[in-house]
Amino acid sequence: MAFTVAIDGPAAAGKGTIARSVAAHFGFSHLDTGLLYRATGARMLDGEDPAPAAWALVPEDLERDGLRSAAVAEAASVVAAMPEVRAGLLAFQRRFARLGDGAVLDGRDIGTVICPEAEVKLFVTATPETRAARRFAELRAAGAETTLAEVLADVQARDARDAGRDAAPLMAAPDAVHIDTTALGIDEAVAAAVAVVERARG
Ligand code: CDP
Ligand code: CDP
Repeated sequence: MAFTVAIDGPAAAGKGTIARSVAAHFGFSHLDTGLLYRATGARMLDGEDPAPAAWALVPEDLERDGLRSAAVAEAASVVAAMPEVRAGLLAFQRRFARLGDGAVLDGRDIGTVICPEAEVKLFVTATPETRAARRFAELRAAGAETTLAEVLADVQARDARDAGRDAAPLMAAPDAVHIDTTALGIDEAVAAAVAVVERARG
């Protein structure tokens, strides 16, 4: 029986880091669902109509350069508010969640819409300032010319759009376990998540 771990939360909260480590710890597969929206946003920036682009995504779309840029993050959150885009990406995510022994998916609506029956649901948060500082460090390391204030404004605008939309808004499932990573190092955050999964596996 497949075991699903659903991880949601706002930008740069540490979802991906926790998801990758939990997947490695338990030998589960991992899907970064944000990449699907980023790839669709990138195709919109190329001039394509987003909904047909979402339905037509191919694996190579997820390996494009520049998917982690601020411009693509913003485009991702614009296309993510479109119900036809979300519909185009739904079946693949649901199928992925049920493949093999176990799967970890991270995004915004995994515990609420994609996998409401997930065995474990985590809602990962941190203060906006902490998240912006983390994302700023990543963008600078990748060579982007930006400021902390600009990254904070981008992250807050994206969170507001993601939480305020009608289609699958960012929110915690009622049965999600909350992990606030503000004061946690990566190892501590991962250990907290692993402990929740271990408890659920009994
Ligand atoms: O997936 P999400 O956007 O939620 O965040 P992430 O990509 O996992 O983490 C964003 C950045 O914060 C990465 O550079 C992580 O190494 C860092 N991070 C951290 O410093 N402390 C944590 N407890 C978790 C992540
Ligand atoms: O890494 P970070 O948390 O900054 O963003 P991401 O997970 O790559 O997601 C980029 C954007 O895709 C988000 O701001 C959301 O608008 C959208 N998204 C979504 O709507 N639903 C998901 N399951 C995953 C991402």
